[in-house]
Amino acid sequence: IDEGYRKTEEKLEEMLGTLNEGYKWVVISPRCFQYKGFWLPEIYIKGSMMIDDHFKPRPSDIIVASNPKCGTTWLKALTFAIVNRNSYFDFQNHPLLTSNPHDFVPFLELFILQEAGSIESLPSPRLLSAHLAFSSFPTSMRCRFVYICRDPKDALVSMWYYVNKLRPEHLPPLSLEVTFDLFSKGLSLFGPFWDHVLGYWKASLESPNKVLFLKYEDMKREPSVYVRKLAEFLDLPFSAEEEDEGIVDKIVKLCSFENLSNLDVNKNNVKEKKRGFPAPLRNSDFFRKGLVGDWFNHLTPEMVKVLDQITEEKFRGTGLNF
Ligand code: A3P
Repeated sequence: IDEGYRKTEEKLEEMLGTLNEGYKWVVISPRCFQYKGFWLPEIYIKGSMMIDDHFKPRPSDIIVASNPKCGTTWLKALTFAIVNRNSYFDFQNHPLLTSNPHDFVPFLELFILQEAGSIESLPSPRLLSAHLAFSSFPTSMRCRFVYICRDPKDALVSMWYYVNKLRPEHLPPLSLEVTFDLFSKGLSLFGPFWDHVLGYWKASLESPNKVLFLKYEDMKREPSVYVRKLAEFLDLPFSAEEEDEGIVDKIVKLCSFENLSNLDVNKNNVKEKKRGFPAPLRNSDFFRKGLVGDWFNHLTPEMVKVLDQITEEKFRGTGLNF
């Protein structure tokens, strides 16, 4: 496997020189490139190539997929709680009360780099995550994807805060104007945002058993409905007995923003190198407001108009809207 990895690395070096270079967000990687139509930090391009060349998917694999800042942390928590509910039925003593959700659901693109062999030794079903676009995965890949998306206006505001938390102190903060400009031109991390969403949306229509498409806004409104949907999609529907015991509500409460963001482990303000994350960050960086519509407090009417227009144009005729 080491020889194989080395060959992929050589290929990467050759290829990077041929790609368009994008804005340096300085979040997790010094350089971003346009790869297979999406703007990726260099390390994710490497991860994507390693997946193409070396990943052995299993039909039981579950991949939590998203554009950054669309609710990844929440969906990781929910998926972990649903899949493992028979091992961790004591909700007073649940692992999500003492660890951050990201610790249980590693990013495939980064995990495959850091711990090459160990991805194979994970027991099934493997719970993984990805920011890669759907079209970036090998077409033959057999596994299930659960995708979460969000109103691009809220995703942009969330990204703006997040980037500034992660930027090294010697750099000036990134202004909302610059963040907006990059985002609306498609130059966001893993962007264009809209193409990313559309890829998973179309896949969910074509293969509803393979891709579950969720919206942050819907889930905030009716979390228990979507927890049931998620469980059914994963072939782990709640039994009548579980329903009687109120397991769905327990999972909803456990994974709620109010609960997770107030746990000591997630209030932790120490920057640390997290497994699978190439830049040091704090668990608290994953939690901000957890609301729908906070864009209203940040974006100018002009910014709103531009973003809504792009959304309208990109999603016209697809059945998707925000
Ligand atoms: P805001 O910045 O709007 O508050 P990601 O997990 O993809 O990085 O997305 C982060 C966004 O999800 C942040 O949005 C964060 O506050 C919100 N979030 C984190 N945990 C959540 C939860 N359990 N429920 C709802 N929203 C959550």
